[in-house]
Amino acid sequence: MKIVGWKSFQTRKSFDCLVLPFFQEGKKAIKAFSQKELDALFLEPLRLGDFSGKREETFFLYANDLKEKRILLLGMGSASDLTQENMRSIMAAANLALRSKKISSANVLFPALPKSVSKDLMRSLCEGLLLSNYAFDKLKQEEESKKTLLSEVTLIGVEQKDLLFLEQDQILADSVHLVRDLVNDNADFVTPQMLAKTAKDLEKLSKKIKVTVFDKKRIEKEKMGLLLAVSKGAFVDPTFTVIEYAGSSSTNPVVLVGKGLTYDTGGLSLKPTTSMETMKSDMAGAAAVIGTMRALALLDLPVHVVGLIPSTENAIGSRSYKPGDVYMSYSGKSVEVMNTDAEGRLVLADALAYGVKHYKPSYMIDIATLTGAVSIALGEEIAGFFATDEHLAKQIEKASQATGELLWRLPLYAPYLEQLKSDIADLKNIGNGKGGSIMGALFLKEFVGKVPWAHIDIGSSSWLAKPKGYYTSHATGVGVRLFINFLESLGKKS
Ligand code: BES
Ligand code: MG
Ligand code: ZN
Repeated sequence: MKIVGWKSFQTRKSFDCLVLPFFQEGKKAIKAFSQKELDALFLEPLRLGDFSGKREETFFLYANDLKEKRILLLGMGSASDLTQENMRSIMAAANLALRSKKISSANVLFPALPKSVSKDLMRSLCEGLLLSNYAFDKLKQEEESKKTLLSEVTLIGVEQKDLLFLEQDQILADSVHLVRDLVNDNADFVTPQMLAKTAKDLEKLSKKIKVTVFDKKRIEKEKMGLLLAVSKGAFVDPTFTVIEYAGSSSTNPVVLVGKGLTYDTGGLSLKPTTSMETMKSDMAGAAAVIGTMRALALLDLPVHVVGLIPSTENAIGSRSYKPGDVYMSYSGKSVEVMNTDAEGRLVLADALAYGVKHYKPSYMIDIATLTGAVSIALGEEIAGFFATDEHLAKQIEKASQATGELLWRLPLYAPYLEQLKSDIADLKNIGNGKGGSIMGALFLKEFVGKVPWAHIDIGSSSWLAKPKGYYTSHATGVGVRLFINFLESLGKKS
């Protein structure tokens, strides 16, 4: 989508629709723009109360004497409630309304806002438009059922020089959309090899990116015993991908680790049928890391980041790894697998240990669809997160607030570690069934040593059953905006 600024209302282009913003005061809509010549158009809907300016409310009108055939009245709610996140959702509502009429170009009157917030809200407005402009229609065969996307938007009353952030935001939105595509597509298409290839292709974007893919042989040679165990039942081979972005010469990179389970049946500890339906999304963490590395390369940020992606399918079959058996990890610790469905922590354990050994990370952060329990605790819009380092935790929470990618810190409660003791190995991979997200995090913590580390459990927020705000249904693409915001803040004084 192309967004441009245009100073004058009179000389605007003839587009499909004119979008007019309104605030709400009391129960009444108040126009948020100055053009008087438009007043007669919406007199009646406002007088009759058919449109009240409520946040995300949309109402179509028709006019003969305008450059646009349709007019969309857009509610922004009370001016005092207009946060950046609300602004993103308002523009998503506008985009959805426009697309429902197959409108692909629109003139948007930029709302009059106090100077102090105008810049930030202008950016959020664009973010909302860009992030909501997504549809996964690739597998639809009937043309009519494909969704229209917005292709051109002109912001009236905005100067082009105020929109310098657009280039960055377009990169971010495209990276989020790449994540959504990877998560939404078939598991038989998005295999460990395909994820590795997608990562490899990032080398074309920047000379600062270098990608190394370990195949099964190399993974065996490296002795990543837990990744190998999980992969045993799968027809496809596992991969382990290292993506290095050297945007600075720092010798202590930030290491990002993404869970890349391209399908999770649960293995021999088989999942119930309905729990499996969304398990092609079990590589959402890996996709978020790939999306982040893509954005880093294109934004050319001055940071040193290494992305690690352990990837396999957790399949059921005669070769599957077995509950009750003990497997050797890359770190040297042995693990008694009590439940083959707790596989994410196994592949992550090997990747985290690899990160510690090879990179001396300044920070290490993993992102994973690790537990179903996190959505029991926090619901589907909020990710769980854990951290061993207060500064890191604070920076991640700041990034969350800035981007609207919600997360909530949960405790690494040490006494529960007792539950992971095994009679025959160094660790078991599950606890007593309660506090499932904490148990997953405590297991991972055993593999990070003293490195300042955070774990983000997106078992909740990586997938939505229904659209919400600027998220379409299914894959949300969370992680990229959070990570980029976090990485941008590194080096800046807080
Ligand atoms: N990939 C799942 C977690 C998951 C479930 C993410 C639902 C998103 C939605 C993970 O591998 C898993 O199966 N975890 C188990 C752990 C349990 C066996 C301790 C779970 O959450 O039930
Ligand atoms: Mg599982
Ligand atoms: Zn899983």
